[in-house]
Amino acid sequence: MDWNTLFFVILPYIALALAIVVTIYRSIYRPFSISALSSQLLERRQLFWGSISFHWGITIILLGHLVAIFIPQSIVLWNAQPLRLYLLELTGIALGIWATTGLLILIWRRVTVGRVRVVSTPMDYVVLALLLVSLVTGLITATVYRWGSYWFTGIFTPYIWGILTFRPDAAAIAPLPFTIKLHVFNFYLLAVAFAFSRLVHIITWPLGYLLRPWQVVIANRRAAARPDNPA
Ligand code: HEM
Repeated sequence: MDWNTLFFVILPYIALALAIVVTIYRSIYRPFSISALSSQLLERRQLFWGSISFHWGITIILLGHLVAIFIPQSIVLWNAQPLRLYLLELTGIALGIWATTGLLILIWRRVTVGRVRVVSTPMDYVVLALLLVSLVTGLITATVYRWGSYWFTGIFTPYIWGILTFRPDAAAIAPLPFTIKLHVFNFYLLAVAFAFSRLVHIITWPLGYLLRPWQVVIANRRAAARPDNPA
């Protein structure tokens, strides 16, 4: 077995299986660990700038990746005009820089703010490092191996569909440059880290908001002032 088979055919399934099984195990046996503990009370300002930039940037970029995988015709049609191709590529790169800037602020904050450092686990640093590798290799791919949105649909869309339909084939990935392979390989490492880290909040955070009962928020000042209120 060669490295390409190991990294791009076998690893994806190991990563996916771990992400699903460990997430289910955690939600049943350790339900309170299924979140990302907030450090907002420990430091607010850097968190605001870092978190907003990182989360919006990475979410839009990943949605772009999903469109290329699930509705590739839309990208092919859009890119039929060179001007639109340039616009898409520039937007991707700008979003990548925005997300990377946000992530660097978050890393700086975790390392330099004592109160945040104290509550950080080794896994927090592993996740931040993996995310940085994803963003930097993505930006290198977009700038050095240009018009990625053009060749994504020819190379990666069939490759990902091969994985999803249990007919994996790494033949098209094998000849790619190292940085692009690292970009994809690192995604599988992130998937492995997913269930063992705070990344799990990616699914539990929106689900929690969708599934929780309605909360009615009311002003309670007058009630608090009443003599029979113990509060
Ligand atoms: C955590 C997961 C990932 C992150 C954070 C990420 C991030 C990025 C970023 C920041 C860029 C540059 C901006 C852009 O062009 O959109 C990029 C480009 C790219 N990514 Fe990813 N990526 C991820 C997963 C993947 C995977 C799994 C694949 C392939 C199967 C992939 C293939 C590509 C390609 C081909 C480009 C170049 C697109 C272009 O030049 O327009 N990425 N990625």
